[in-house]
Amino acid sequence: MSQLVRAKITALGTYVPPRLLTNDDLEKLVETSNDWIVERTGIRERHIADKGVASSDLATEAARRALAERGLEASELDVIIVATVTPDMFFPSTACLVQHKLGAKGVWGFDLSAACSAFVYALQTGAQFIATGAHKKVMVIGADVMSSIIDYTDRATCVIFGDGAGAVILEPAEDDSVGLIDFLHEMDGSGGCSLYMPGGGSLHPSTRETVEKRMHYVHQDGQAVFKFAVRKQAEICEKLLTRNRLKGSDIDTFIPHQANLRIIKATAERLGLKAESVVVNIDRYGNTTAGTIPLAMETARQEGKLKKGNLVMLASVGAGFTVGATLLRWAI
Ligand code: UT7
Repeated sequence: MSQLVRAKITALGTYVPPRLLTNDDLEKLVETSNDWIVERTGIRERHIADKGVASSDLATEAARRALAERGLEASELDVIIVATVTPDMFFPSTACLVQHKLGAKGVWGFDLSAACSAFVYALQTGAQFIATGAHKKVMVIGADVMSSIIDYTDRATCVIFGDGAGAVILEPAEDDSVGLIDFLHEMDGSGGCSLYMPGGGSLHPSTRETVEKRMHYVHQDGQAVFKFAVRKQAEICEKLLTRNRLKGSDIDTFIPHQANLRIIKATAERLGLKAESVVVNIDRYGNTTAGTIPLAMETARQEGKLKKGNLVMLASVGAGFTVGATLLRWAI
């Protein structure tokens, strides 16, 4: 078999809708308080899409920004992968809608569903097309309009989520000094009932009853997800570090899924990460599901925490349960 080619990220673009939903706003909607939300989650505000704005719109804007950064036309891409749990509709795929909006003639693609781990799963899926030499330019997008599936009368979920998107372009790395190094992914389907949207699929197609029972919203057993995430995120990162003969303190930039500040802190502590390596922006965006990791990449860049050659670890736990961690050296 010919040598596999390492993929590297050559551009990053992000987009969040302009409208803000603050903790003060939420205090007017449900029985909650700014203090509770900040203390239990770390979130202060999140961005919310206006009615009629869908995941494909956020994804397209993020993709346009990544293309502009790289100086590429959309039609120069080979494949578009959209990681999302809030597709515009069941079909066509959001990737098809983004392809059309970008004018990416001749490009193929598909959606990938893995909830909060979808971006890291999509990143590795895209990297495989580069590795085999099948493709040279892969657009990987994480985009979610979580507000479209949130029950704004349920204080246990509505305070957590926000809307947003991020896109990266993957291309072949010339050598091993930069690019994607290794990854570990896992699923544990026994956790499916801890975080899910029961209605609208083939099991419970939409009916008046499914609407009345509020089955088209996110349902979450917060504590069960929290416990699993605290244990599993650190565990998967430890395994990945160990098999690469690395320690937590070797990581320059840790970019975790932004679900809860307490989960991020627990992971950082257990791995022995340097405090300055940990990227946090949950205070400004909440949990944007597939959008969190590329949005946090942008935050890291703005904070000067992401420089060419930096050793970066991405990590996520999400509905499914899905779990993922990625090691890479930043290339731009
Ligand atoms: O990205 C996907 C993965 N998702 C996650 O990682 C989420 C993981 N889970 C969490 O982040 C946390 O479990 C939550 C933030 C969802 C909840 O925090 P918690 O510390 O686990 O709270 P809890 O569910 O144990 O609830 C504690 C109390 C309860 O009241 P009682 O029964 O003690 O009287 C809740 O009813 O807090 C109450 N509560 C609230 N109070 C004020 C729940 N939500 C709220 C709220 N405001 N928004």
